[in-house]
Amino acid sequence: MKIGILTSGGDTPGMNAVIRAAFIKCKILNYELIGFSNGWKGLMENTTISIPDDIIDKIDLGGTILGSGRTNPLKNENGTDLIRNTIHINSLDCVIAIGGEDTLGVANILQSQGIPMIGIPKTIDNDLYGTDYTFGFNTAVTIATEALDRLKTTAKSHNRVMVVEIMGRHAGWLTMHSGIAGGAHVILIPEFGISNEQICEIIKKRYAEGNQWALVAVSEGFGVIKESDLQQEKDEFGHILLDKLGIGKKIAKMIEEKTGYTTRATVLGHTQRGGPPTAFDRVLSTQLGLKAIELADKRDFGKMPSLSGSKIIAIQLSDAVAKLKTVDEESWVIAKNLMDV
Ligand code: F6P
Repeated sequence: MKIGILTSGGDTPGMNAVIRAAFIKCKILNYELIGFSNGWKGLMENTTISIPDDIIDKIDLGGTILGSGRTNPLKNENGTDLIRNTIHINSLDCVIAIGGEDTLGVANILQSQGIPMIGIPKTIDNDLYGTDYTFGFNTAVTIATEALDRLKTTAKSHNRVMVVEIMGRHAGWLTMHSGIAGGAHVILIPEFGISNEQICEIIKKRYAEGNQWALVAVSEGFGVIKESDLQQEKDEFGHILLDKLGIGKKIAKMIEEKTGYTTRATVLGHTQRGGPPTAFDRVLSTQLGLKAIELADKRDFGKMPSLSGSKIIAIQLSDAVAKLKTVDEESWVIAKNLMDV
């Protein structure tokens, strides 16, 4: 078999671990694994990358050796034809697309147009439906938690409120998990509203009890009603760059004005996506990469390996992209209880 592979969307720790596992499995089966550079762009332009043998020793390498990008081939009039052409020229049996909601949405449409696809779920946002966790999420939670731990000591030294802006676009998983793990006193996510008055009340109560510092974890998408309503430059999938809205700074300003307590804001930004994956993400990425080749081997296309409990199963790509997995009331209850709101 000849199998194409690409990484698309925001890079995520564990992408190389997936490619490595797929490479190892292909070697065992005597199949050829051909990389395409910079996501869908490379597949449209037939820019191949030969996967080096030393990928075997790079399970810990962050980023993606294939490069990534946010090109949407469906926005290109000839996108599908170009992809068909690349598949024909390289005699590919199928293409494995490693990506989040946007990438897998494209993969699902290409599959419905007769192009054999297998998807692999990745995103630090953990907002992909049909899998318990996406790889990269655990690493990002670990990084954000460490940032909260570090901000805590400086908050205490200076008697300050520290606001930390955390990634996550439409979903608050990353902010909620790192906020809980890092002991944040206020956790703000896009799915559930908390008023400015409630935020300030929680902080004032802490100060009144003698703790002259506080940590606030806020998701970059908190308070954004609908991205499409916002006038700002968008990527090819219609997403605005949320860090440009500066919600962390706005919340910090509001807290300082309403409480009088000195407040600072930190934006974690892309540090949350950089560097080596955690052990959990390395194992999950390996499982997903192996399962993808198993599906290709059976010519079971149009599927996505996913984590269900402790097992890796295969689900239909169409089911995986049918809706987003946002934080539900039942999951939110822990944070709600801790804040007493
Ligand atoms: O989807 C992953 C993500 O890191 C989001 O959390 C964030 O909003 C977005 O990508 C940032 O995109 P970019 O890398 O294009 O700045």
